Formats: sequence, C-alpha cells, structure tokens
Amino acid sequence: MSSRPTSPRLLIVDDEHGIRKLCGDVLRRSGYLVEALGDGEAALRRLSAAQAEGAPFDLVISDVRMKPMDGLAFISAVRALDDDVRVMLITGYPTLETAVEGMKQGARNYLTKPFTPIELRDAVKEALAGWTAPLSGSALEAAAEDEVERFGGLVARSASMKALFAQLRRIARAQATVLITGESGTGKELVARAVWQHSPRRDRLFAPVNCSALVDSLMESELFGHLKGAFTGANQQKAGLFQYADGGTLFLDEIGDLSLALQPKLLRVLQEGEIKPVGGVRGVKVDVRVIAATHRDLEAHVQAGAFREDLFYRLNVFRVEVPPLRARRDDIEPLADAFLHDLRERIGRPGVHLTPRALAALQGYAWPGNVRQLRNVLLRAATLAPEDAITPEDLWLDGAEGAPPPTGDYPFEDLTLEDVERRHILHVLRRCQGNRSHAARILGINRTTLWKKLSRYGLEDA
Ligand SMILES: Nc1ncnc2c1ncn2[C@@H]1O[C@H](COP(=O)(O)OP(=O)(O)OP(=O)(O)O)[C@@H](O)[C@H]1O
Ligand SMILES: [Mg+2]
Repeated sequence: MSSRPTSPRLLIVDDEHGIRKLCGDVLRRSGYLVEALGDGEAALRRLSAAQAEGAPFDLVISDVRMKPMDGLAFISAVRALDDDVRVMLITGYPTLETAVEGMKQGARNYLTKPFTPIELRDAVKEALAGWTAPLSGSALEAAAEDEVERFGGLVARSASMKALFAQLRRIARAQATVLITGESGTGKELVARAVWQHSPRRDRLFAPVNCSALVDSLMESELFGHLKGAFTGANQQKAGLFQYADGGTLFLDEIGDLSLALQPKLLRVLQEGEIKPVGGVRGVKVDVRVIAATHRDLEAHVQAGAFREDLFYRLNVFRVEVPPLRARRDDIEPLADAFLHDLRERIGRPGVHLTPRALAALQGYAWPGNVRQLRNVLLRAATLAPEDAITPEDLWLDGAEGAPPPTGDYPFEDLTLEDVERRHILHVLRRCQGNRSHAARILGINRTTLWKKLSRYGLEDA
C-alpha cells in the first residue's frame, strides 16, 4: 500500500482547453492535486493507471458534451472502472434529463457553465464532502476551521456542515427541485427555509405542507384545489397550495408519506409545470419551486414499491443529506451556545451557562433525537438547574459518557420553596409558549393568581 497523498487528487476531463486551464489553475491554487485531459478515452486510461499505481483519483470532473466520447458514457465507464471515485459534471446545457441521467450514473453534483472560481471551489468541496485522507499542511486546511458559520437559521462549525452550506448556496440559486434527507431533528426544515431565503424567490411565499398530516382525499384538493361540485361539500371553487405558492416555494415535508395515489399527480406538476384541480379537466400552469424532505429512506421505499422511481428522480435533482448530530460533534458547542443565548432571556435567567463538564457530557452523548433533542435538553436544564452553572447532572442524559445516569436525586434539594415555585412557573409557561391561561390551568390556579405570582417574582415578561 502506498501512502495516501495529503490532498485530494482531481482529474478534469474537458475537450475545451480554456476550461481545463481555468479549472486546473483555480483548483491547484486551492491545494488540490490536479491533472487535466482532453478526452474520455485518455482519461479512462489515466484512471486505471493511477489505480494500478495505488494512487487513485478522488474526484473526476467531467464535461457533459464532449467528443468523441460524451460525458455520460464516460462517467458510466468510470463507474465500471472504479466504484469509489466521485464524479462531478460540468454542463453548459443544464436539462433535467442530463441531470437525471447523470445521477443514475452516480454523478454527485453539477456545475453549470459559466461559473466563477468560487462556485467551482464550492462545488468541488461539496463533491469531496467527507473525504477522509489527512489534509494537514495543505492549503486546504482552512484557517477558518474553528469559525462558526451561519446559514439562514442554521449554526455550524463542523467541516461537513460547512460543506453542506456551500452546497446549499449553489442550490439556492437554481430552480430545480431539492430533496432533503436526514434523521429526525437534524434540521431539515431549517435547511429548506435557508435555501428559500437565499433563492431568487426569497420575496415570494414559502409554503410548508406536511404530507403525512392530511388524508388523501383532502390532500389532493389541498395541493391542487378543486372546482365547485367536485365532491360532496365542495360548494365553492377553491385554489390549492400550488396556486397560492405560484411564483414561490412549496415545502413538501414528510414526502415519504405521500400516498401512491398522489405521487403521479405530483410528478405531473414537476414535469409539466401544470396542475389539475380536483373535478377539473384542464391543466393550470403554475411556477412553483418544490423543496421536499423526509426522514425516511426513500431509496428503500422505491425498492419496496412504496415510492415511484420516476418521482424519486424528479425530486432528487439536488440531494441534500443532513448528517446526524453524532457525526458532527464539532457543532454541539456552537449549537448549545446559540440555544442558551436565546433561552437566557426567555426564561429570565441571564447568568445561566454550561460548566466544562456539562459541555463534555453533551459532546459525548449519542443524540438519537439530534439537534431538536439537544435544544430540549438545554431548555429543561436551563429552566430547572438549581444553580446558574449547569452541571452534567442537570442534563439528565441517560447513559451518556461523563454524565451519571439520573440517580433519582431530588434536584431541588437546596432550594427555597419560592425558588421552586418560581422555576416551576417558568417551566410550565415555557411549555405553554407563554400562554397564560393554559399555564394557569396546568398550575391549578386562576389567571389573576398567576399574574400576581409573576409580578412578585419579576417575571411579567416571561
Ligand atoms: N444547525 C442548526 N442550527 C440551529 N438550530 C438548528 C439546527 N439544526 C436544527 N436546529 C433546530 O432543531 C430543531 C429541529 O429542526 P427541524 O425541525 O428543522 O428538524 P427536522 O429535520 O425537520 O426534523 P423532523 O424530521 O423530525 O421533522 C428546530 O428547533 C431547529 O430550529
Ligand atoms: Mg421537519
């Protein structure tokens, strides 16, 4: 085994000399090891030679329209040769068909000509996301490694999330459909919103729809509208979400739960840009960007026949995979900071903070519920911790390293009755999102009494 190079190896394949030169220069300056060739056949020979030498390429960047061997034929040959190498396509003619075909051949992403050096670098970074060889000493080791980055409502420090942000920036500018996957609580909805916020459609509607929340018959009319008399109870003609969102963005959450009956109808909109209201015969043109998300394994659903393959490919033009929190522990500290920052004011404990041991416990925990669970754990700890300094014990993380399982200890041991009351009221108010009537009901007191207690504890604004 020869040792791995310290930077990723890239092979650029394009029949235009200018593109080869431009990409080569930009990417070499970024610290990659770059070779460039003018046709597919030569590139295939080079790839297999590199493999034989034990120094395989990590990424192939290929033009789509090339002669004599065209890009799609080339990448399918690349696949046959090397299962591990990543592939990125450059195209001057972005059609959905090429995108879908390229994806089937295993291309991970696209760059549309003309592009800027920044776009090229972002796309390469994204294509190489998760690349594991050591990068030390190379120009790639970003000086900004420790910096916290924000994108829309998302906060991150990990390399994988930063690569994801770069991907999102490029996706946002495009029009094509986006499919966001990832475990529950990883931030898929925030990702969808961030894409919209950075898209040319940011001034138009963002309409979230939960596909698992509605019954089939209603869902269809909800999405596509209906004509008067289309079904019992349809007394009025009604526009669907696709019409409301015309010019805007529709977020189809839990797309994996969309019924087989509705799938072809959605496919039709994506293909033709046209909807058919329930009870109608004529199509209505709509211009809607669709962003879909699911925590399910859609590929497995396709295999099992529960999700149409053609719809899958239509949705999957851009694929965003949000990694689970345990795979990006670098994000835990900035996330905890951001959540505590918001909480301090809301719960009226300006001094509340994590002890180093509590932070270590958070970083060592497995987070089956991902970022959402982290936020909830902090909310509970910040509200209930007897001291402003949150200890590992205050986190009540079961089975976490560094945090003993709850011993059944009573957490209010050293508190006065007033402290407990104050904290309990705050806790309940938070759970009720500040709704005083609801909180009073849970606390078993009337609203006047609650109001008096709030003013006594200085919590009028809580
Ligand atoms: N990177 C992040 N930065 C800040 N907050 C985040 C981040 N990721 C997730 N969150 C917060 O975590 C919570 C869960 O996120 P979100 O609702 O987007 O998850 P989801 O993937 O859609 O989950 P589900 O599959 O259960 O619907 C939200 O309160 C969101 O604001
Ligand atoms: Mg969600």
